Amino acid sequence: MTVQIDLAGRTALVTGSTQGIGAAITAALARAGARVAVNGRTAASVERAATALRGEVPGAEVVEVDADVSTDDGTARVLDLLPSVDILVNNLGVFGPTPALEITDDEWRRYFEVNVLAGVRLTRAYLPGMMERGWGRVQYIASDSAVAIPAEMIHYGVSKTALLGVSRGFAKAAAGTGVTVNSVLAGPTHTGGVEDFVAELVGDSLPWEEAQREFMRQHRPQSLLQRLIEPEEIANMVTYLASPLASATTGAAVRVDGGYVDAIVP
Ligand SMILES: NC(=O)c1ccc[n+]([C@@H]2O[C@H](COP(=O)([O-])OP(=O)(O)OC[C@H]3O[C@@H](n4cnc5c(N)ncnc54)[C@H](OP(=O)(O)O)[C@@H]3O)[C@@H](O)[C@H]2O)c1
Repeated sequence: MTVQIDLAGRTALVTGSTQGIGAAITAALARAGARVAVNGRTAASVERAATALRGEVPGAEVVEVDADVSTDDGTARVLDLLPSVDILVNNLGVFGPTPALEITDDEWRRYFEVNVLAGVRLTRAYLPGMMERGWGRVQYIASDSAVAIPAEMIHYGVSKTALLGVSRGFAKAAAGTGVTVNSVLAGPTHTGGVEDFVAELVGDSLPWEEAQREFMRQHRPQSLLQRLIEPEEIANMVTYLASPLASATTGAAVRVDGGYVDAIVP
């Protein structure tokens, strides 16, 4: 038996998808046949990502959505460009280290606005249409940091914990409608900037494969995978959850963390 995922006829919006995990998700959904909307803050970055995607997935139907989804105006622009979607992947998230006692009110607010409220607002806009049509998929890209709050960025961790509650809550709002709502806990992933980060910590004399394993051994010893996760590996789970195959998975927090979180169930 072969497992096939066919998303032909579905439209998907992936927020923050001009690079990193978001770009890998748009590629995976496009490969499965979905029409995909690439989102970032500038027309230039969105156009660059959309062109790369069309090259990577020949025949892909790509919509360019340049809008800052952390603002009301930006969200209004998204809804203008894309009045209805079948699959909403709230991938956008910012992160960066700041000592707990130095995180200001403004920073706490920014993390809430970008990492939590942007996804809430888009869910509020798109979920009713999905429920009316009797099919839809909403996902939030959370993190191992949602359940293992990192000491160096508690505001980030807390924003991801909030997403687990948001996801569970909207899943209840969509109960019995054919729409599923889930969150995906991504673990340490090989995205832009991470290679520099690894080189900073373990030196730049080792080839990448060895360097990342050394980094994981020294700095992420809880990982059972013992290497960074590739963005495509997160995208595989998102694509499965977006598919008809995952019809009985809703209100869940699903881990793609390489076993990083030392728990049997999330
Ligand atoms: N990387 C990891 O190891 C890791 C681990 C666990 C979870 N995650 C989560 O996975 C998600 C993606 O992370 P990533 O590392 O792939 O991100 P990233 O490489 O930093 O990419 C961020 C993306 O968001 C866009 N963006 C930033 N602010 C925006 C805004 N206000 N409105 C619209 N787009 C915006 C950027 O595009 P423009 O610059 O073009 O605007 C870019 O495409 C995040 O939620 C993150 O918390 C990441």
